[in-house]
Amino acid sequence: MNDLDRLRSLDGAKWSKYGPDVLASWVADMDFPPDPQIGEAIIDVCRRGDLGYNFGALDRVHSTWAAWVKRRHGLDLDTERMTTFTGALHAMEVVMDVMTEPGDGVVVFTPVYHVFINATLSGGRRVVEVPLGPDSTLDSEAFAAACDDTTKLVFFSQSHNPTGRIYTSEELQAFGRVAAEHDLTVVSDEIWADLAHAPNRHLPMLVGDPSLANRTITIGSASKAFNLASLSLAVAHVGDQRVLDAMDAQSAHLHGRPSALSAEGTIAAWGHGEPWLNDTMAKITRNRDHLADRLAAEIPEVGYAPPESGYLAWLDFGATSLGADPASVLLEKAGVALNRGVEFGSNSDGFARLNFATTPEILDMVIDRIVKAVKTGVTP
Ligand SMILES: Cc1ncc(COP(=O)(O)O)c(C=O)c1O
Repeated sequence: MNDLDRLRSLDGAKWSKYGPDVLASWVADMDFPPDPQIGEAIIDVCRRGDLGYNFGALDRVHSTWAAWVKRRHGLDLDTERMTTFTGALHAMEVVMDVMTEPGDGVVVFTPVYHVFINATLSGGRRVVEVPLGPDSTLDSEAFAAACDDTTKLVFFSQSHNPTGRIYTSEELQAFGRVAAEHDLTVVSDEIWADLAHAPNRHLPMLVGDPSLANRTITIGSASKAFNLASLSLAVAHVGDQRVLDAMDAQSAHLHGRPSALSAEGTIAAWGHGEPWLNDTMAKITRNRDHLADRLAAEIPEVGYAPPESGYLAWLDFGATSLGADPASVLLEKAGVALNRGVEFGSNSDGFARLNFATTPEILDMVIDRIVKAVKTGVTP
């Protein structure tokens, strides 16, 4: 079976949402099969029939994550402060629930992963958009100016989705001063941590600015780096004692419980998956650079700052004929599905997000279709 046939045969949302003529470059799943060791670890739970109430594996997720982030990113986390959730957004919504009231402000740095915005709105909270500065830098003055007495929480993505920037310690420290001044709780979503392109390195929020430790919830997951989103497992390290106390006062059932299968898969990823991850990073970095080369050579009017981390390209079609919502035009007229920039904040007209974690052949087909659409001047 060729790659496209394999991908189209899957139940995954990425390749099944649109018809057979569309190439899928949207949702943040990779097109590479996961490390076989992960499947083996999951099958092994079934083989030994360990499918009763199995909490041992969940406990080991905490110690495995602590060892992984310590070794790879120099981050010291306390397993006593960890809770496992069924996804990063689950953890974020629980924090929002305990730390804010309806109408309170939640800061996001836009353009931002659209689900941060949707989660805030569906929780009845106010989205406080702080636009990123030039070259996707953190603008701490704009951040300070956006905060008032009803601003309580920040949803932060390190590295940033969709720009792929890894914020520097200077930026994090300037951010930290504003967060302290307004006594904000900070959720640092670091589920992209392991996808930094060399020579860039992931910088955990708490390594960049240790003074944030008592107000930060750090979130990790094997989902992005190991292509395991459907295992539905994320871990939160809760540094903010107010959040820990409020969560302790809630029913644990509200926090859910990922399965032992998810736990064993995650442990296998963090325990043995580094060689697979290194191979995968090499493929992703090649694609990142190939995309840059082809865009520069063939459609230089499309803006692209190659990400420091991750496999998402935040493309600026503002100088083309494609209009404010280029992803919708490309879906309809070119047969490629990208994410719609307009969902990522009010400063995102003319942008679209492309996922390049695929085979070189599929990536070239995707680029061919985009180049043709831009060169022939398609319009909405
Ligand atoms: C920054 C970021 N946070 C959270 C998520 C979603 O995570 P989960 O499915 O664990 O809720 C994504 C998915 O792409 C993401 O990019």
